[in-house]
Amino acid sequence: MSNQVESVKALIKLRETARLGGGQKRIDSQHQKGKYTARERVAMLLDGGSFEEFDMFVTHRCTNFDMQDSTFLGDGVVSGYGTIDGRLVYVFAQDFTVFGGSLSESFAMKICKIMDQAMKMGAPVIGLNDSGGARIQEGVNALAGYAEIFQRNILASGVVPQISAIFGPCAGGAVYSPALTDFNVMAKGTSYMFLTGPKVVKTVTGEDVTQEELGGASVHASKSGVAHFAVETEEEGLKLIRRLLSYLPQNNLEEAPLQPCTDPIDRLEDALNDIIPDSPNKPYDMYQVIGGIVDNGEFLEVHKDYAPNIIVGFARFNGLSVGIVANQPKILAGCLDINSARKAARFVRFCDAFNIPIVTLVDVPGFLPGTQQEYGGIILHGAKLLYAYGEATVPKVTVTLRKSYGGAYCVMSSKHLRGDINYAWPTAEIAVMGPSGAIEVLYGKETAAAEDPAKFAAEKEQEYREAFANPYNAAKYGYIDDVIEPRNTRFRVIRALQQLATKKLSNPAKKHDNLPL
Ligand code: HXC
Repeated sequence: MSNQVESVKALIKLRETARLGGGQKRIDSQHQKGKYTARERVAMLLDGGSFEEFDMFVTHRCTNFDMQDSTFLGDGVVSGYGTIDGRLVYVFAQDFTVFGGSLSESFAMKICKIMDQAMKMGAPVIGLNDSGGARIQEGVNALAGYAEIFQRNILASGVVPQISAIFGPCAGGAVYSPALTDFNVMAKGTSYMFLTGPKVVKTVTGEDVTQEELGGASVHASKSGVAHFAVETEEEGLKLIRRLLSYLPQNNLEEAPLQPCTDPIDRLEDALNDIIPDSPNKPYDMYQVIGGIVDNGEFLEVHKDYAPNIIVGFARFNGLSVGIVANQPKILAGCLDINSARKAARFVRFCDAFNIPIVTLVDVPGFLPGTQQEYGGIILHGAKLLYAYGEATVPKVTVTLRKSYGGAYCVMSSKHLRGDINYAWPTAEIAVMGPSGAIEVLYGKETAAAEDPAKFAAEKEQEYREAFANPYNAAKYGYIDDVIEPRNTRFRVIRALQQLATKKLSNPAKKHDNLPL
């Protein structure tokens, strides 16, 4: 056998060794926990046969704790590039079978390399995380590695989409990089995110808590908002990432791909002409409105279980990718509160960064009042949403369905925050506040002194309702461009988006803004 043939054989053997990561026993253990390996995940995520791996032969350089006797080819992270629906993406997948997926200096260098490539090529970065955090044996070199990744996350933010999946117990530094990315997907039952695990929590605070209670997918998808999506299985999570990318451009200089549209653009949705209940206090389901107007009723919701009083997600109008923001009258009457303002602000900013037009559906009685909200800083958090809409330069189409009162009127993509096209249904009520509150403020004393206070207040409320609880006052001043027939909303929104396709608007030059954090 020639030397060359020998060397090729040796290469193949090395590759086989590298593909085994931490060894068959640990792979089996990973499978027993209901988890896939890093390589299996990459294969499921990318188009078949498209993966090109980098740095398979990288090993760590640590000699503390006799680590030189314990090296694995690839050092616990699989990295490279491939395609999703034919579009270039960069990917890294942490391999829990090698030192629990913990991050070394070399491991970080591999991730940084693909992030740098992604920035040069203008392509998304997808990180599949399954890691015990900084590799303890490496000391400060591991921390330095994390900080190098964070720095790249920050510079890539708003330039290329960054998506993280959490497919295992992620602790310490392993959660901060995902926190800096645009979207986090968590698998229920097998993934956890926390800065410090249950043992440290017990030592420091005395609190007994399980991994699931501390940082499971449901906790982060519904309570903290750290996770944008909670999925049942890893397969579901990987499919979701593929679907999510279909709504996004490759980078901030491009636009999202236009999909062929099979849904007639002038489809009338008759049910919408009869969806608003007679009583202003009765809710209806905003999902019905969204489903009725977007292409084929398809809506990819983000943060479904977090702050459900506002709905955000991606859909298409005539094949054009848009971000939808909609108040949900079924939850908290659609009021804006701290969490919903933060959720929607982040979404609006993402859309604006990536040239995705925003369609806003308004039915909001105002901000949620009370000490809990005020002490929590609703003034600042509400201002985030106001800020996000006001700075956004992408096409903004707004439809007011019913209530739009007070500060919430201003916030929800109003004309005054550079809303491009603002429509209202004939059922819209646009005023400083709802009738009962207004009458209490304006006629409190007269009501108390009246012979029949209830009758007096009811009459005044009716007068107020007739004068203000309609869209025509706002339309009179040009704040509403047109009052439209609800069943024709799809067509009107599509026409508005078509008109706005060439929109050019920029904000004053500045180093960066100082939005209320
Ligand atoms: C080195 C680690 C490791 C780590 C796990 N391992 N975490 N090795 N450094 N950080 C190794 C284990 O020794 C073990 O090796 C293998 O990975 C699997 O770990 P197990 O504990 O057996 O698995 P499991 O029971 O599933 O528990 C997983 C875990 C736990 C919850 C992640 O390992 C854990 O709590 N690890 C430490 C988490 C942590 O506190 N990290 C914070 C680091 S500080 P063998 O050889 O037995 O297979 C940090 C600061 C960065 O990240 C700050 C930046 C801002």
